[in-house]
Amino acid sequence: MGAKHTHLAWIKKFIPNNVNTAIDAFAGSQSVAFLFKQMGYKTITNDFLNFNNQIGLALIENKNIKLTNEDLKLLFQPAKNKKDFELIGNTFTNVFFEKDEAEFLDNFRANILLLNNSIKQAIAFAVINRSMTRKITMGHFGHTQALVYASDPERIKRNRSLVRPIKDIFEEILPKYNHAIFDNKQENHSFNKNILDLLPTLKNIDLAYFDPPYCDSHADYQGFYHLLETYTEYWKEKEFINGIKRYEPQRFSGFDKKRDVITSFEKLFELSEEIPNWLISYNNRSYPGIKEFEKIISKYRDLTVEAKTYHNGRGGKGSVAGSQEILFVCKPKKKHFVSTIQQ
Ligand SMILES: C[S@@+](CC[C@H](N)C(=O)[O-])C[C@H]1O[C@@H](n2cnc3c(N)ncnc32)[C@H](O)[C@@H]1O
Repeated sequence: MGAKHTHLAWIKKFIPNNVNTAIDAFAGSQSVAFLFKQMGYKTITNDFLNFNNQIGLALIENKNIKLTNEDLKLLFQPAKNKKDFELIGNTFTNVFFEKDEAEFLDNFRANILLLNNSIKQAIAFAVINRSMTRKITMGHFGHTQALVYASDPERIKRNRSLVRPIKDIFEEILPKYNHAIFDNKQENHSFNKNILDLLPTLKNIDLAYFDPPYCDSHADYQGFYHLLETYTEYWKEKEFINGIKRYEPQRFSGFDKKRDVITSFEKLFELSEEIPNWLISYNNRSYPGIKEFEKIISKYRDLTVEAKTYHNGRGGKGSVAGSQEILFVCKPKKKHFVSTIQQ
């Protein structure tokens, strides 16, 4: 939801020259980080949700490690420690999956730990998480209709994945992920932090891309994607609440609730003072509104506001027809010199 892959060509037009290092600070699906990597930049990428970080490790940090057929045998074999891996079966059977699929996921999760390096594990997480998303109508886990939709012939006609085993979907998409792994001859890094904690530890960045949750308009990533985070973290100590069994307590974002968001943006911009160029994605249905947000940014940077209108509702995250995708293109403030004439 909110992935920027359909806007990459447009965003690319506003990337300044002379960039060596770029950060995708709220990376989500990693689509903009992937663009940075393709452009040859040293790419730093970050998301406070670990399932997104696993995509970053697999596709951005990773230079040349792939999942092989031998790895697949390990992943699909019956797990030896089944008893320690029953979370998905116990929590999500008949919520998103039938019993056998939930058990397959637990078994696979146990075996991920048999892969002998963290990058291989990250590819396994990225692909299995994507496979789960493909199998659920609407591609998110914020509703309880998954199994009802999966028995509706009309919906199945439109999306065969609803009735396909997750294992098949995994085997279909793994080659595409393996194929997307490349070395851009830079040391790229993926982080799993709150951006406000990460920024003080970084230096020498030329460009920051900020695509924060659009507050007041589909900002609850932990509500929509809770299952992927639960699967990746394999939470043992959380509660699973509501019909959708989302985990509680949630991580603190700072950017998804009206009461925090202005203070968080002020902090974000202060901490980014040393990064000369910023690109900020936004939407005209978010809080604060465009004018107010522009005023906040202009305390720190000179900026222009670029807009692209959606003609259909396919972009996610509030991108209903008629809403606008906004890009704030921010540059260091021009210094104004006042000349004094000496008599
Ligand atoms: C609009 S989405 C980014 C979409 C992304 N550009 C893409 O193309 O997929 C916002 C992301 O910010 C992350 N996020 C929210 N609060 C954060 C925080 N305080 N620090 C880092 N990431 C955060 C969410 O997990 C979510 O993935």
